[in-house]
Amino acid sequence: MSRLTNKRIVLGVSGSIAAYKAPDIVRRLQDLGAEVRVILTQGGAQFITELSLQVTSKNKVYHNLWDKEAELSMGHIELAKWADVILIAPASANTLANLTAGKANDLLGSVVLASDAPILIAPAMNQQMYNATSVKDNLTTLKQRGVQIINPEHGVQACGDIGEGRLAESDEIAKQVGLMFQSNKLNGKKVLITLGATIEAIDPVRYLSNHSSGKMGMALADACIESGAQVTLIIGNISTPISEPSKQISAISAEQMYQAVMENIDDQDIFIACAAVSDYSIKNPKNHKIKKSDQTLTITLTPSKDVLKAVCNLPQKPLCIGFAAETQNLLKNARNKLKNKGCDAIILNDVSKDDFGFKSDENEVIFIDQKGSLKLAKNSKQKLGRKIIEIIVDKFYK
Ligand code: CTP
Repeated sequence: MSRLTNKRIVLGVSGSIAAYKAPDIVRRLQDLGAEVRVILTQGGAQFITELSLQVTSKNKVYHNLWDKEAELSMGHIELAKWADVILIAPASANTLANLTAGKANDLLGSVVLASDAPILIAPAMNQQMYNATSVKDNLTTLKQRGVQIINPEHGVQACGDIGEGRLAESDEIAKQVGLMFQSNKLNGKKVLITLGATIEAIDPVRYLSNHSSGKMGMALADACIESGAQVTLIIGNISTPISEPSKQISAISAEQMYQAVMENIDDQDIFIACAAVSDYSIKNPKNHKIKKSDQTLTITLTPSKDVLKAVCNLPQKPLCIGFAAETQNLLKNARNKLKNKGCDAIILNDVSKDDFGFKSDENEVIFIDQKGSLKLAKNSKQKLGRKIIEIIVDKFYK
């Protein structure tokens, strides 16, 4: 089954007897690695308690559009932006009608309207209701708008009727959510990605490094894996869980990263240099801890190899995508890097901001190539990772 590592799922639980299965759906999604936040509609709350969903999702349950406190912590717009996917399971006939009409009179309706995330709906209701023309029409309209429907099952219903309308099994729902992220856009392609910060030892205790968390690189790795690529990760110092690449190699220093890349670059189709590689290494790192004294301490730094530039200069170079971490003259510096390193595209990252970039789960970037630039507005690194891979496919493989 497809993994949902690092995926953020908003689960809407609406008024159907099948709402009692919602905690099980939450667990199945979590088993695949997802983080789940639940919106419980008024109808849903008649069938399942907020507490059960809070305990299973390990998050506050959202239910009130007008809750001042909730709006202060994570308001409906933020929740809408947070979601990689919105799953509504079970979706009652009333919820289907509200969604079709575009109503924003409750939290779920508002979040759906305010989000650009894909939407999956698992209807569950009495078989007679499910076959009603208005319900069928609503489902058709929603499908035409790109909403994906997880068909209900046929069988004995809570009311004793036999027919179509039983909520799909939790495993099936989780599987369908996983499939939302799958594509074959990079099928057969090999992608090598460097990520995280390098560490240059000063002595066995101290080191020179930077704030890179590896989150952007891991999001790109996730997007490549989901697109069918074989991914090799060269991993520096990171503070994010590692996805399941085809191959992973740890590289602590700039020199180790250079060696690891050069040993693995031969048959790669794409190289993404996302690591924040130290430009300098420590000349003569000490074998023992440097002892404190009253004297000024001088540490000599020597330039390290530029991994990206070296790959761009290979006679059989892969498609090379670099990053530009900048704090001033952003576009000018990034364009210079594109030219000087000889890469096919560069992703400009403003690392001077506190609310995105280094360490953060969010980022805002500009994709720059020979033809121009494209701004990708502030978003989760996971979403940006998928957008960047889509752009690479559009620009270089179509
Ligand atoms: N890079 C690299 N090897 C290095 C330094 C940088 O492969 N020794 C790569 C980074 O992974 C990134 C790109 O080069 O894709 C730009 O890195 P950045 O730190 O923004 O710029 P530098 O080339 O280091 O230049 P400066 O520090 O002067 O901005």
